Amino acid sequence: MAIVGQNWSALPVPYAIELPDRVRKERYFDPDFYQMEVELLWPRVWQMACRLEEIPQRRDFVEYEVLDQSIVVLRTDDMGVRAFQNACRHRGVRIVEGRGTCESGFTCPFHGWCYGPDGRNTFVPQARTFAEHNLQPEDINLTPVRCEVWGGCAWINLDDDAPPLRPCIEPFATIQDAWKVESLRTERWYACRLPVNWKLAEEAFVEMYHVVETHPQLVIPGRYPPRDGRAIDPRTLIDAEIHYLRTMSEGMDGMVHANDVRIAEGLRDIELPADPTLAMSIWQRQLNDAVVSWHRAAGSDVPDLNDLEAQGINEPMGYCFPHYFVLPMYSAASSYRFRPLGPEETLMEIWSLARFPEGREPEKPTPPEPWECDDPRWPPIPTQDFSNLPRQQRGLHARGFQYMRLSERAEGHISNFERTVDGFVAGLPYERLLPALESINLNPLDRPVVDIDL
Ligand code: FES
Ligand SMILES: [Fe+2]
Repeated sequence: MAIVGQNWSALPVPYAIELPDRVRKERYFDPDFYQMEVELLWPRVWQMACRLEEIPQRRDFVEYEVLDQSIVVLRTDDMGVRAFQNACRHRGVRIVEGRGTCESGFTCPFHGWCYGPDGRNTFVPQARTFAEHNLQPEDINLTPVRCEVWGGCAWINLDDDAPPLRPCIEPFATIQDAWKVESLRTERWYACRLPVNWKLAEEAFVEMYHVVETHPQLVIPGRYPPRDGRAIDPRTLIDAEIHYLRTMSEGMDGMVHANDVRIAEGLRDIELPADPTLAMSIWQRQLNDAVVSWHRAAGSDVPDLNDLEAQGINEPMGYCFPHYFVLPMYSAASSYRFRPLGPEETLMEIWSLARFPEGREPEKPTPPEPWECDDPRWPPIPTQDFSNLPRQQRGLHARGFQYMRLSERAEGHISNFERTVDGFVAGLPYERLLPALESINLNPLDRPVVDIDL
């Protein structure tokens, strides 16, 4: 790890964030800004490359593509994970496409150079026709890429000098460990091609300010005790809460698992005190306990949800710079990943994750065909979010529009995130970037603008 002792001088960042609550529009389409992200951000960050259930058996592999880079992520014989650059050391052909299982290693389809499942070159046809300096043993193995495992996923980093994974994804990792994210498995997996910049796409999912206008069905009358102390039947609150859980479950395809909604419905008529706030907190505790007991009885690994509540980490969302989110709810979670395909195009994936008893996990998940953002098959909540995004990307190009103005209290994460992007684009050393990462790898919802210490 080389985070100190280098002679860095910050590069000038075009369209840098100057006032923390204003974001210049060019950051979302200017080709030069995008190119700086390509060169200075993406090759220096830990990226979620695949879920481990995509490579369940020895020698299973998947190709992870980001920008013009392709990385092979491979399950090793001792059930570890390794990664290699997907380029034959002869003339550069990608040795794999997509995914599969390499029983006896990889053979390049062009001239037949062979590599073992450990990446070592095992055969060069007509080797005598090459000069010795071109066949030096250490120089003809597949080029390794840094790879670590955390949270049920394999992560890669293209920079050999980057710090290890864990300090770059804290405190997100510690919080999600308490949620036991590593024992979640893919129940469904979707992908969307969005005609917008990758940062714009992410920023549509990191604040609650849009919920009232964009998702009016989630604003459920009677869900909170009245502020003026008026008497309210606790039953009304519980009905509203169950209605909310069902709307989230159906609207997001599993962010609240249908089985957890069923458990909540089973608790509709339990005895409760007349005080609505007390009644609600008792009911929530009972629901947490009922969900946990149901899963433990079935043999699944699930955290004690009331314990998470007591620790203050039962937050509905965890953000991991630059492109990975986990949104845990009761026993299940949604998870998102964003990858740029161009200055104004993004691939967004959504996983519905759930818990299963050991040995009864679902089959290896099949990667989804990306749908367009207006595809009628999207569930209602993403349909609503996706309907705004292309309009926003087009709106940014208006001649009279110069910068976004952020609510410093409700949309602070967007500012904190964009300023961290500036830190990477300026080429700052990791010792300067780590404190910034630590202040944004948190629940982004309702985060204020903070001093990210860059
Ligand atoms: S490019 Fe791979 S064997 Fe020639
Ligand atoms: Fe939304």
